[in-house]
Amino acid sequence: MPVHPVSSFSATVATLRRAGCVFAEDEASLLHEAAASPDELSLLVEHRVAGLPLEHVLGWAEFCGRRLTVDSGVFVPRRRTEFLVAQAAALAPRRAVVVDLCCGSGALGVALATALDRVELHACDVEPAAVRCARRNVGDLGQVYEGDLFDPLPAALRGCVDVLLANVPYVPTADVELLPAEARVHEPRVALDGGGDGLDVMRRVAAEAPGWLAPGGSLLVEASERQRDAAVEVLGRAGLTPRVVVCEELYATVVIGTAGRVV
Ligand SMILES: C[S@@+](CC[C@H](N)C(=O)[O-])C[C@H]1O[C@@H](n2cnc3c(N)ncnc32)[C@H](O)[C@@H]1O
Repeated sequence: MPVHPVSSFSATVATLRRAGCVFAEDEASLLHEAAASPDELSLLVEHRVAGLPLEHVLGWAEFCGRRLTVDSGVFVPRRRTEFLVAQAAALAPRRAVVVDLCCGSGALGVALATALDRVELHACDVEPAAVRCARRNVGDLGQVYEGDLFDPLPAALRGCVDVLLANVPYVPTADVELLPAEARVHEPRVALDGGGDGLDVMRRVAAEAPGWLAPGGSLLVEASERQRDAAVEVLGRAGLTPRVVVCEELYATVVIGTAGRVV
């Protein structure tokens, strides 16, 4: 039996407002659009009121103008990460080999592959739920593998990757407890926790990246503003030439590390 019976739009808005949803009207519109019956609507509202991220309730997230499937237990792609994709699109060659490492739902790779002319896309993640979700989103745009960082990638890609997208977990362990419940409770810890200073996974990625990048290819990572200098150092120490790009509107910091060209 649904706990929050709702029938009209205004009742849905009122229920969501009482639950603390800031954009109650927008959310109510999406929930009404998604529900095929009053019973289903009550169930969706019940899940949202219980604290599930809206994207998990709906089963999709909007990213770079597309609706992508996001299953429960899979990291919800953030709007700020659209900035990383835009940076990648700006530096990718016309026919790019793209790897989306730590791909989650696969949102970044799908967005980049659809923005560019011709892309050979490979995506991978360690979480089976993310891999299943990414396979549905990526479809015939590319391949999705399951495993730790670069391990599952075909060896033939070594030295051939033009764009290495890596939105790795970067929340410092002590800060995970401070995240909103939507992330802390409903997204897997492996998607959030980046170790002591938040940069453990980034360090591992950067250390291996030069072996996979094509000459002139780039690794793109997201970091918090606070981690910016440390992230630059991580990419620089790995032998990449680092630079930082910032989008204040999206509150996004991206560090790009480029491999040297052979002369
Ligand atoms: C912050 S989420 C980003 C997901 C996606 N790139 C996005 O931006 O929506 C980090 C992702 O890294 C994956 N991950 C964490 N550690 C990993 C590892 N050692 N190897 C592969 N994937 C890993 C998690 O499962 C999660 O999907």
